[in-house]
Formats: sequence, C-alpha cells, structure tokens
Amino acid sequence: MTVKTKMIPFHKASIGDEEINEVVDTLKSGWLTMGPKTIEFEKQFSEFTGAQYAVSMNSATACLHLALKAIGLKEGDEVILPTTTFVSTAEVVTYFNAIPVLCDVNDHDHNIDVTKIEPLITNKTKVIIPVHFSGIPCDMDVIHALAKKYNLKVIEDAAHALPSEYKGRKVGALSDITCFSFYATKTLATGEGGMATTNNQEYAASMKKNRLHGISKDAWNRYSEKGHWYYEVVDNGYKYNMTDVAASLGLVQLKRLNEMNVRREKIAQRYNEGFKNNSKIRCLEFDATLKSSWHLYVIKVSNRDSLMAKLKENGIGTSLHFIPVHHHPYYKSTYNYNENNYPAANKAYAESISLPIFPDMTFEEVDHIIDFINQNV
Ligand SMILES: Cc1ncc(COP(=O)(O)O)c(C=O)c1O
Repeated sequence: MTVKTKMIPFHKASIGDEEINEVVDTLKSGWLTMGPKTIEFEKQFSEFTGAQYAVSMNSATACLHLALKAIGLKEGDEVILPTTTFVSTAEVVTYFNAIPVLCDVNDHDHNIDVTKIEPLITNKTKVIIPVHFSGIPCDMDVIHALAKKYNLKVIEDAAHALPSEYKGRKVGALSDITCFSFYATKTLATGEGGMATTNNQEYAASMKKNRLHGISKDAWNRYSEKGHWYYEVVDNGYKYNMTDVAASLGLVQLKRLNEMNVRREKIAQRYNEGFKNNSKIRCLEFDATLKSSWHLYVIKVSNRDSLMAKLKENGIGTSLHFIPVHHHPYYKSTYNYNENNYPAANKAYAESISLPIFPDMTFEEVDHIIDFINQNV
C-alpha cells in the first residue's frame, strides 16, 4: 500500500487559468452583477440542455422556490419528494405554507421509489419533485405517467444531475421545470449559483421577474445604454439573481463540463473495479439506459461510522448524503413523519459514505482510497 501523508479532500473544484482569466476579464470590465456574461451563460446553458429557457439564480434553492411559485403552489397544497435529499427540496415547499409529503427511496440507487408515490397522492397534491441522487436519473417515465394521470406538475431537483441523461435525453428539458445547482462542490461550480430550465414561456417569464424583486422587465439592464430608469414592481419577488462574476466561472466550466464528466466517470469505474470483489461493500446500481453525472460516489458498508472516522484520521475526506428529511428535528416535529415509513432511506442513511470524486484527483489517490477501504471495512 502506498503511504500517503497528504490529505485527500472530499472535494476540490477544478479551476484553471481559463476560469481565472474570465473572472479577471469581468472584474476589469467594471460590471460585476447580472449583465452580459450572465445572459450569455443562460444562452449557452439552454443550448447545452436543450431546454428553450434557462433562468439563472444565486442557488438551486432559489430556483426550486421560484419554480414552485411559477406553477402557482398555494398554502395547504401537498408536494411529494424523496426523504433522501438535501433539506432545500423540502424547505422551499414550506415557504408557501404547503406540505412536504415524503416518499421512501430505492435501495439500489437512493432515488424516489416510484412504486410508493401513488398511495401518497391526494386531492391536495400539486407537484412531484424527483431528486436525481448523485446524478443518477430517476424513473421519469413512471413519474410523468403519474403526473399526467393526476394532473400534477413535475419539478426536477437536478442539483446533482449535470450532465446526466435519461434514456438518451439530457436532464433539463424532460419536465415542467428543472433546477440545477452550481454550489462549490457541484459538477459545475460557480461558488454559489443555480439554473432553472423549462420549455414553458410563462414559467420562464415568472421566474425571471421574481428573481429580481418582481420587477416588470429586464431590470438588470436599467444602467446600460439601452436601459431606462423607470421600472414597475408587478409581483412580490425576491433578490435571487446571479452575478457576472459567477457567470464567468459558469461559462468556462460549462465548456469543460463533458471533459470533467469523462474524468469523473473514469474515477468511478476505478472505484467500481476496486470494490467489486469485496462482499462487504455495496455500490449504487443503475440501468445502462441512464447516464450519471457522477457528482457523488457512494458506498454502503455495515461499519460506516468507524470506517468514516478511520478515513478521516488517515487524511481521506468523506461526506454523507443524506440525513433524511424526516430525521431533522424541525421537520419531524412540524410534520409528524413516521420513521417506519422510510425503511430504505433509513438503511441508506445508516450505511452510506460519499467518497472523493473530482476531476483533478489522481488515480494514485483513488487507488490509495480503494486499498485503505478494502483493508478497513
Ligand atoms: C439534492 C439537492 N437539492 C438542492 C440543493 C441546493 O442547492 P444550492 O446550494 O445551490 O441551493 C442541494 C445542494 O447541495 C442538493 O444536494
């Protein structure tokens, strides 16, 4: 075994000279907030995903919030989402005094268990929010069929799913609205940031207006030569816009996205190979018709806590995705979720570890992690 003294972080953003130069270019331009680079980033993002409209914001949480506002979510409505997710997916529902209805997940990929959705649908259900856990697309055909049958909207939480493909189609133009995250650890990183994509012109217009205080049109443009000082506030909006500094990173990262994804895929394949003969380790599994972004590489082991502690002691950074929503004290006490309804999510939570997977990792680092885990599991 190679002896390593250097820490392998859980994540390190892949930032090169091109990103740095693009940010410097923005700084030198004197225009820092939403402007030409943000608009260009949106244009290129919509071309990349194949969605007609791409609306940038300062986080995926903001995108999910304004997506729910665009489809007209109201107080008392119910929204179905998996319990294995980051709290944002549930939190945005509470902004409307609507109810997050939690669904259990699959054991094999930790995505929403589509066989358990229908019994949760009531006459108050308005939306399903599937989360493409780790970048593996959910079973969208079944979700769309249920949405059609019960007249529900589908808003995808694609915070992990760039670039992911469902049966040969890119995630981003499959449902009513799709929300991506550009948070620091994501596959495309702008520090903080998000993008909502849609083919629906009304939804796009609603989100564009509400990311900037509910101001009527092109509010970001009012200091430019083409702009005008007059504006009207026509909705109760928010301050959720992206900045040109972030969009500079986004433009370069988008150009490099496929290349970075190939590298992630190679790292994942190396982990798969390294663990395949160890019966104490289980990996996520998905169908060959799907393409993952490989945002996360998750293993499941019975000695999770002690292994995670040993990895840390030995300089290997890890993380845990996710503490299910029904475990969090606020959600547990507010919505009275019954823990027994989510056996697969509870098991996933008890056994999972997310290992480092980022484009600039070396194969030597991957092999060191594989050896360490095989010896300590
Ligand atoms: C599944 C999921 N949804 C939503 C979010 C929120 O993304 P953001 O931090 O861009 O608001 C995250 C972030 O980690 C996430 O993992």
